Amino acid sequence: MEEVYRFLKEAETYYLATVEGDQPRVRPFGTVDLFEGKLYIQTGKVKSVSKQIHANPKVEICAFMNGEWLRVAGKLVEDDRLEAKQSMLDAYPSLQGMYKADDGNTEVFYFKNATATFSSFTKEPEVVKF
Ligand SMILES: Cc1cc2nc3c(=O)[nH]c(=O)nc-3n(C[C@H](O)[C@H](O)[C@H](O)COP(=O)(O)O)c2cc1C
Repeated sequence: MEEVYRFLKEAETYYLATVEGDQPRVRPFGTVDLFEGKLYIQTGKVKSVSKQIHANPKVEICAFMNGEWLRVAGKLVEDDRLEAKQSMLDAYPSLQGMYKADDGNTEVFYFKNATATFSSFTKEPEVVKF
């Protein structure tokens, strides 16, 4: 899982797909944190993306870097603990102007039953489950 974290961190931007009814939705995301051995992302409860995740936690993310791309499919689980949110905010000082761990808006989710696939045009795909 650490290689998944490292890839997403180095790529800086990944694209998070959710579903809303029968309509896929996708947008750029950047936050990623390793906390207590789990892979976390961050958003705000006021956003549509948050509402979509709560209605259907099955998501997929995709990032591309240096000729290789990574997809991570799985379910997101909300972690409402302040320490999980603070760990994320500590990793992104730039977010601290917009978000606080106890502001009632900040939320973090970790991946459960995730399948990560590293792909390129030159190698066989490599699959990591966590
Ligand atoms: C490079 C980049 C990284 C972003 N990272 C995040 C992020 O980690 N979390 C987040 O909630 N929004 C992030 N955003 C903003 C969302 O893409 C934006 O709020 C989007 O509209 C949310 O999707 P929604 O409109 O379906 O709710 C990022 C935007 C950009 C351009």
